Amino acid sequence: MDRFVVEGGRRLEGRVRVNGSKNAALPLLAAALLTDRPVRFRDVPDLADIRNMLGLLAELGCCRTDERLPAADPGAVTLQSVNETPSHARYEVVKTMRASICVLGPLLARRGRARVSMPGGCAIGDRPVDLHLRGLRSLGARITLEEGDIVAAAPPEGLRGETVFLGGPFGSTVLGTANVMSAAALARGRTVIESAACEPEIVDLARLLNAMGARITGAGSPRITIDGVPSLGGADHAVIPDRIEAGTLMCAAAITRGSVVLDNCPLDAMLAVADRLEAAGVRLEPTGGDDPLRCSCRVSCDRAPHPVEVTTQPHPGFPTDLQAQLMALLCIAEGNSVITERIFPERFLHVAELGRMGASLFRSGATVVVSGVRRLRGAPVMASDLRASASLVVAALAAEGTTTISRVYHLDRGYERLEDRLTALGATIHREREPG
Ligand code: EPU
Repeated sequence: MDRFVVEGGRRLEGRVRVNGSKNAALPLLAAALLTDRPVRFRDVPDLADIRNMLGLLAELGCCRTDERLPAADPGAVTLQSVNETPSHARYEVVKTMRASICVLGPLLARRGRARVSMPGGCAIGDRPVDLHLRGLRSLGARITLEEGDIVAAAPPEGLRGETVFLGGPFGSTVLGTANVMSAAALARGRTVIESAACEPEIVDLARLLNAMGARITGAGSPRITIDGVPSLGGADHAVIPDRIEAGTLMCAAAITRGSVVLDNCPLDAMLAVADRLEAAGVRLEPTGGDDPLRCSCRVSCDRAPHPVEVTTQPHPGFPTDLQAQLMALLCIAEGNSVITERIFPERFLHVAELGRMGASLFRSGATVVVSGVRRLRGAPVMASDLRASASLVVAALAAEGTTTISRVYHLDRGYERLEDRLTALGATIHREREPG
């Protein structure tokens, strides 16, 4: 296992390009199961979760056809379903990555059957998939649970369009919307998803599906309409930039009172993030680019942050995936901030670790009061999930002295070579093997 060693107190300065989005790429890659034509993706990040998804798709007969091409475009991946017989996403794969559930809708729609190991809980909460199953059942699928696997079968005449309500106790479901939308693309007739997730990753998936020949309108709003088509073709699709990586880099720049230009920045998909960062005194200035989803943006901060209140919400609200990183920044604010988590109320594994670095945090249920301190101090800390790890890196960049962050494999699931990119901006951070 690897760990990071960070010497805090270096100001970040320079320019960095935001990578393609992990959470957009996972359901996009799974959508290649919906056709036997090649689907080419660009700007796919090189991450553990993406490699797991490509491995799973290969087991399902959907293989990379571009591996032997010269590495001129490292983010390019071409997939083609060459064997449509296998349909089992095994426990061994699903347990390493919950997002494996993304293959359920595409397999069911195209192959008429799917067997996907039921994802268990994870460090950030229980994470049920009942809404995915409810949605697919509405389209006519017969779904049972056998030996821990979700076993789904379409009726002999195929899935049929229906009105599907996807709201749950914590709002809609992102991957549930992806599954139902992908399946409905090949269903007979019209599907209307009510209380659909509005996340930019869903808009990107609809864009790919439409490029493949689907007829989808309304993605990005709570009502998505899908008119099913008999088959889908190939496409060439550039993955949207990662708004969570961009937000993490913004927090990193701000906590070091740095000045960093983010290129390929999806600012238009980050309005709630921009609102909270600006309230904290961080300056965000677009510096170029016509596309507000791929612009250049200077992030700078020259003082201790102001305290802010923030509540995580489904998009376009403040994303749960940036709650931990913003908390790290607010640890050194001048006053008391209040952070409430409304998507995953248990997603606070970073709180105790930030406390080891001298942060003053009081948690009550789904709310944390952050009393700003003048400085954080380096300490040995442990990464426990992807975004919690990112928050420890953000905190370590500003902490006095040395922080060692163990178990950074969590971080590697969602950030490509983060240590190299921060080093290029002036941070002192390196990766080493954990002793023993
Ligand atoms: N929920 C249900 N029933 C369901 C599905 C979800 O009650 O059938 C609940 C969840 O327990 C949660 C809420 O609904 O309280 C939202 O969960 P959602 O289904 O939207 O989460 P997801 O689709 O499984 C994606 C991202 C997560 C991100 C969430 C919320 C991917 C691969 N994962 O998960 O990303 O936190 O949406 O925005 O897209 C991360 O990148 O670190 C990460 C965890």
